[in-house]
Amino acid sequence: MDELPKGLYLLMRVLRYNRMQNDMEIWQEMKAEDYQFFQQNGYLSLGRILTDEELGFYLHLYDQDRAEKQDFWFDYGHHHQTANYDVLVSTPEFDSLVRHPKVMRPLNNLMENDICFSEIGIRHMAAYTGEPRHCVWHRDGDVHGGRHLMGHPLRIRNVQLMVYLSDVDETTHCFSISPESVDQPVLQKGEQLKKGGIHNLHGQAGTAVLFNFSVLHTATVRVTQKERKTAQIYYGHRNRPHMANDSLIPVDFWRDHPDVEVRAFYGVLNDKTRKYLEIAGAKKHSLKGSAEILYEIDYKNRRKRSLAQNA
Ligand SMILES: [Fe+2]
Repeated sequence: MDELPKGLYLLMRVLRYNRMQNDMEIWQEMKAEDYQFFQQNGYLSLGRILTDEELGFYLHLYDQDRAEKQDFWFDYGHHHQTANYDVLVSTPEFDSLVRHPKVMRPLNNLMENDICFSEIGIRHMAAYTGEPRHCVWHRDGDVHGGRHLMGHPLRIRNVQLMVYLSDVDETTHCFSISPESVDQPVLQKGEQLKKGGIHNLHGQAGTAVLFNFSVLHTATVRVTQKERKTAQIYYGHRNRPHMANDSLIPVDFWRDHPDVEVRAFYGVLNDKTRKYLEIAGAKKHSLKGSAEILYEIDYKNRRKRSLAQNA
């Protein structure tokens, strides 16, 4: 698992598989009951989307990134997490997880428009011995504070994909959501929890969940010796403004990628990407050089993080 050739071999297999599946599956209709579940709950578990090989591939990349590219990781404080939001810079192979065909198909069905990339974070939750708690119940919003898009059939402005890269059950940290139907009014936090209750989402490593980013949710911390590893990816409508300024979109994807569709998918640029281009120019930088420029940008912007908390 540790040698590069095996990583490259697996990458090639994943990419070949993705291309095949892409052609066949992306525009297939999702099951009516899955769509209805999302309508009634604001989320949908996709089950275990990663094969053992794919899981090994992404876990290897994740561990390598966390161990060797620490300049990109920062403390995500009150969520009991550390995270890297510039994964497409530090480990661009995560692109194939962002555009995984088992995600693209339901996403196309749910969003009903051309979709775009908005953000990716790989996150880590360490062992914990304090008080178990739901960290911060919140509804995410975009840079302008926009949450539910009421004109959309599923009220989706942006969607998050949560991919578990470690096993998640009642003995580990998990993701929790308070189910919300598109037929109900959007309620205050306390009222929503009373009405919708709490779903703690468990699943084997390789499991993925899609949810409306404005439906009330939180990380849940439990007393555990087990660490949790996730990749959390946001998507938006291609015809709407960018969602956030947390992830740089490298030129390799939105400008230089040979596939026009991929360029368009990554083409909704955020202010962070524009700022980076302004400071760094379009030429390639070393990882260390990129990390330094990003630190400079984020250090100045991080206080104005776009994901609204305590909503
Ligand atoms: Fe969130």
